[in-house]
Amino acid sequence: MTTRAYAKINLGLRILRKRPDGYHDIETVYHQVNLFDELEFRLHERDVLLTSDYPAMPADHSNLCIKAASLLRDLTGMTDGVEIRLVKNIPLGSGLGGGSADAAATLISLIKLWNLDITANELHTLALTLGSDVPFFLNGGSAYATSRGEILEPFSLSFPYWIILVTPPVHVSTAWAYKNLKRDEPAELLGFKSALVGHLHDPTVLSKTLVNDFEPVVFKAHPEIKKIRDLFHEGGAELSMMSGSGASIYALTRSETVAKNLSQAAEGLGRVSVTRPFFSPSKQKDPEHS
Ligand code: C5P
Repeated sequence: MTTRAYAKINLGLRILRKRPDGYHDIETVYHQVNLFDELEFRLHERDVLLTSDYPAMPADHSNLCIKAASLLRDLTGMTDGVEIRLVKNIPLGSGLGGGSADAAATLISLIKLWNLDITANELHTLALTLGSDVPFFLNGGSAYATSRGEILEPFSLSFPYWIILVTPPVHVSTAWAYKNLKRDEPAELLGFKSALVGHLHDPTVLSKTLVNDFEPVVFKAHPEIKKIRDLFHEGGAELSMMSGSGASIYALTRSETVAKNLSQAAEGLGRVSVTRPFFSPSKQKDPEHS
């Protein structure tokens, strides 16, 4: 059984307040882009094994795919194992949710492979145990998210922009970014979904409403990341922003020429990927989307 796990960007990321459980309430819109890991699952008699083409990838219990399989076995009493082969294209720790996408793909695939009977609620709870944005990746697409990121309102977003994404070789820890945010007063919701739905073709309005609260903290510690955003703006991007807690930066433009120029300008600054307008993710190996 093979599947694809697509990365996401955050179209706006607002940190509202710190919660008593240590997490933060957020507001964001998750949106999947055309950058994906590939996973293959084969039954194994008893063990949960992972191999990956990516040398720096931990293949032990700290790996979210292995954790996902173990959680499912604990919940259901399943004793069968699985061999997982992971082809990693989404850069690690880049604000694109690669590990979370892989974890959600593992949950969904193993439920089929092991023929498990679990409820939608149980699946959602398992996903949230693995990480705040894992529930989003169970269905993917585009979704407005609040709470830790797990209260989801999926919506159809026919996105008219080219998305040029660059991940510089800088690692930003999400826990570090939250810790350094220092949110003394609760912040207001900004209404990212209504902005996207109501003003999708008006990047001037979008760039005023969509903000990423991590940018000041992360840009201060890593000015080289801000330089990429500035470069995108100077190159004609209609909007440019950091995704998640970084270090990936994306640019939006409706012009194919600007998209080509921006992706060329980004070469050499990090891993670049380009998503066409109106892209929608497909789990199958479909050449049209690759
Ligand atoms: O849930 P996840 O494992 O992705 O979170 C990583 C870290 O980011 C958490 O340990 C927490 O410090 C922080 N976090 C948070 N509020 C969220 C999501 C993550 O404080 N909504």
